[in-house]
Amino acid sequence: MTTIEQEVVQHWTHGSLEEAIRNGLIASGHSLDKLQPDDLAPVDEFHMGGREATVHLAEKIDLKADVTVLDIGSGIGGPARFLAGRYGCRVVGVDVTPEYVKVADSLTGMVGLTGQVAFKIASATALPFDAESFDAAMLIHVAMNIADKEGLCAEVARVLKTDGVFGVYEVMQTGDGDLSYPVPWAETAALSFLATPATFRQALERGGFVVVAEENRRDFALDFFRRIRARMVESGPPPLGIHIHMGPAASEKIANMIENLERGLIAPIEMICRRT
Ligand SMILES: C[S@@+](CC[C@H](N)C(=O)[O-])C[C@H]1O[C@@H](n2cnc3c(N)ncnc32)[C@H](O)[C@@H]1O
Repeated sequence: MTTIEQEVVQHWTHGSLEEAIRNGLIASGHSLDKLQPDDLAPVDEFHMGGREATVHLAEKIDLKADVTVLDIGSGIGGPARFLAGRYGCRVVGVDVTPEYVKVADSLTGMVGLTGQVAFKIASATALPFDAESFDAAMLIHVAMNIADKEGLCAEVARVLKTDGVFGVYEVMQTGDGDLSYPVPWAETAALSFLATPATFRQALERGGFVVVAEENRRDFALDFFRRIRARMVESGPPPLGIHIHMGPAASEKIANMIENLERGLIAPIEMICRRT
């Protein structure tokens, strides 16, 4: 593991994430032995726009029941479980943070999807799979911690079959200027590696992809964060939400995200790519 990856693991490691999620589920009235995948959506879709953003991306990947999808940087597994539940496909998630993989496995067991969805500890830039192992792949809010975009894209291309679709939904740098920190993926600029859409597209193309569609989802993301902020101001953090991942500085990180989005410095960009 590289030094940066070690720092990334340290950044995302919560320490008692599963306990915090179980407590949040109970506090929001769920009974843990009757849990449904959708009950987890407020906390297990850890990116701008939550479940809605995953639905939007998944619709463009065109999935069927007999395919196997790779979810790169799968976190605690919300997008992977959603795809499996909605399309009946198999999903393999990889993530560099061991605690996330452990929680992902555990939540998947709680909602009865073990067998259809599996998780593995691995880095996105050294995937432990043979060439052409997957029919499709997705990357949701992961590459902001990865400096080598070309290495990343080439590695995803390696494990995808020809014509396989790669759905990217990533935070990118859309304007000049210094970001306000901390943000959810980094306490300071030292762990933040945002590419511009042009640089990201180039990395995808050099890696072996054709970008067939691109959409800037800034307005959608701003609306999402403003809703979260308004709810937090009115009634404090809900028992279950993505703030659980962000620790004591959650409010500050969300405020900075809104500011960075409003200043036009960053935006979540969706790119739909096809492996040539
Ligand atoms: C904001 S979370 C997104 C999780 C998930 N994709 C989702 O949308 O719910 C970022 C995730 O990227 C993972 N990550 C960061 N760098 C990585 C790398 N080099 N390889 C694999 N996973 C990585 C982190 O461990 C973390 O789980």
